[in-house]
Amino acid sequence: MKLPDFIEARTRDKRDYKTVSFNIDESIKNKYAGMKFHLKTYGCQMNEHDSENIKALLTMIGFEEVEDYENADLVLLNTCSIRENAHNKAFGMLGRLKHLKEQRPEILVGLCGCMAQEVSVVEEIMKDYKFVNFVFGTHNLHEFPNIIDKAIEENKQQIEVYSRESDLVEGLPVIRANKYKAYVNIIYGCNKFCTYCIVPYTRGRERSRKKEDILKEVDELVKDGYKEVTLLGQNVNAYGKDLYDDYNMGNLLEDVAKSGIPRVRFTTSHPWDFTDNMIDVIAKYDNVMPSIHLPVQSGSSRVLKLMGRRYTRESYLELFDKMKERIPGVTISTDIIVGFPGEEEEDFQQTLDLVDYCKYDNAFTFVFSPRVGTPAEKLNDNVPLKEKEERLQRLNEKVNTYFLENNKKLEGSVLDVLVEGISDKKNMYYGYSDTNKLVNFISNKELELGDIVPVKITASKTWSLDGEVDE
Ligand code: 5AD
Ligand code: SF4
Repeated sequence: MKLPDFIEARTRDKRDYKTVSFNIDESIKNKYAGMKFHLKTYGCQMNEHDSENIKALLTMIGFEEVEDYENADLVLLNTCSIRENAHNKAFGMLGRLKHLKEQRPEILVGLCGCMAQEVSVVEEIMKDYKFVNFVFGTHNLHEFPNIIDKAIEENKQQIEVYSRESDLVEGLPVIRANKYKAYVNIIYGCNKFCTYCIVPYTRGRERSRKKEDILKEVDELVKDGYKEVTLLGQNVNAYGKDLYDDYNMGNLLEDVAKSGIPRVRFTTSHPWDFTDNMIDVIAKYDNVMPSIHLPVQSGSSRVLKLMGRRYTRESYLELFDKMKERIPGVTISTDIIVGFPGEEEEDFQQTLDLVDYCKYDNAFTFVFSPRVGTPAEKLNDNVPLKEKEERLQRLNEKVNTYFLENNKKLEGSVLDVLVEGISDKKNMYYGYSDTNKLVNFISNKELELGDIVPVKITASKTWSLDGEVDE
């Protein structure tokens, strides 16, 4: 048994890590042939991509996926810790699984992902959810076939969570959810320690993959006909800092663009280390999409300082202006937290005012959620919940008006859209523009999924655009 520990998780030393190749014991390959799994994924793209690896690992040991969890022999929850409601969802599901297990005691239940890295969660599982067969964390996903094997063979709860990063494992198998768009990890972990955020504890220190390994993966995706790659990391801008003196995110972005893949995206970016070089590369290469996610969190420099964000309102806006100026047609999206401890009405007004200036194309807005073990959890929270919820509502009304206003301006223009799906209605398709706008459109000619087609925009809504193929 190995339990997580946040004090250990917080350490950041210069300990070397190696890159090792994934291996699976021959003895467990196909061992569980005929068994069925259901995997539920909560949280960010990082988790979605981890789930693509988990599915492939389960397939290697013989499992087959089923859509309905009630028909599965194994139900696995890949969890998220970012806010309390992510927690509640996972625990709610565990409650349902408890009932299911009363009817079908032979069913296996597992929990992995970010919540598995939290001591308080694991303790709760050991105490109140004894029916959970196994728990593994974000640092030992590659060992999961052995953990499940042990849980079955020994018929006893297995808790295997490392608090510290392990070696970087290359060559994990993957079953991608989409045939045209692929996620590629470029950096794991985060060293920023924003005071509200649990990620540095659940995902460990920053570790970049070697550029050769990333570029090889992208080349293979090009060969396999993929049209879009999203480079993933909790903060992609830190790419390379732990590995190279003279190769950074700007260089990597340029090399990925040169692979010739039609579309390159990346997420997510901390404004503090977004370099001019990155802006130049986005502006220079047509296949690097002009769409940037740039979380601001607050428009008040005083709150940003409390959040430990390393930039001010002014330096954020300077970067924002530079992007708008140098990258033609760029769309910028953001994340905003309201009701951070100490946020006064005046600070919140500054956030609203910043939104009026930036007129974001998309924004994810949240009420502050205290996370166990983070510094912000211990701050004196002076903002009543009702007030926080009112602020969120006022903010949402404002961001929504800009989504619609920006979309309206696109009526009559032609956008390149990657065809991702066919809707139920005849001749109707949907996909995303290079600027990351969802477009529902008509085509009189039959289209292939994965095509990139010019679409003339005929109508706009808050969350999407309507159009027709421009022939
Ligand atoms: N409470 C509320 N929102 C949070 N986020 C991260 N941690 C918290 C928290 N404790 C938000 C941030 C981040 C996004 C992924 O989630 O806005 O950018
Ligand atoms: Fe949630 Fe963060 Fe973990 Fe992603 S990395 S699943 S957002 S806690």
